[in-house]
Amino acid sequence: MSEIPLREVWVLHGPNLNLLGTREPAIYGTVTLPEIDADLQARGSALGVRVVAYQTNHEGVLMDWIQAAVVQKVDALLINPAAFTHTSIGLRDALSVFEGVKVEVHLSNIASREEFRQQSFVSGVVDAVVSGFGPDSYRLALQGAISILRKRLQEGSR
Ligand code: DQA
Repeated sequence: MSEIPLREVWVLHGPNLNLLGTREPAIYGTVTLPEIDADLQARGSALGVRVVAYQTNHEGVLMDWIQAAVVQKVDALLINPAAFTHTSIGLRDALSVFEGVKVEVHLSNIASREEFRQQSFVSGVVDAVVSGFGPDSYRLALQGAISILRKRLQEGSR
């Protein structure tokens, strides 16, 4: 994969993901959020992509960041909306406005969990979903987002 100079990917982590490492390790593993973010930043920088990561427990803050990503013309968003995945039409509406590459990420396989987790309000407005690979979901999502971005750049649509 050749390098893409000066591209920016934002990683948005939703509620309770700051507790990764100690939160229900049987489901979410023992890797912490700073470890995930550092790994993404290292992988991004090897590919010429700046990775900026944020976490919040507040729905409105996620929407503010998505709107900021629109204004700043960020190239790609990786978003794990966590519990808001299953509840937030506002988040879906905010993501609809973002024209860059967007990938929904989950550590667990939400399709195989409780019924209320099997619905995502977000999936219908993103380019791709990565779910069930534990912390590797983020790595795969970054790889996939860069691949979609490269295609769009080649096609001249970005
Ligand atoms: C999660 C799955 C959600 O159902 C849950 O509310 C989370 C994490 C995941 O990454 O597997 O907080 O998004």
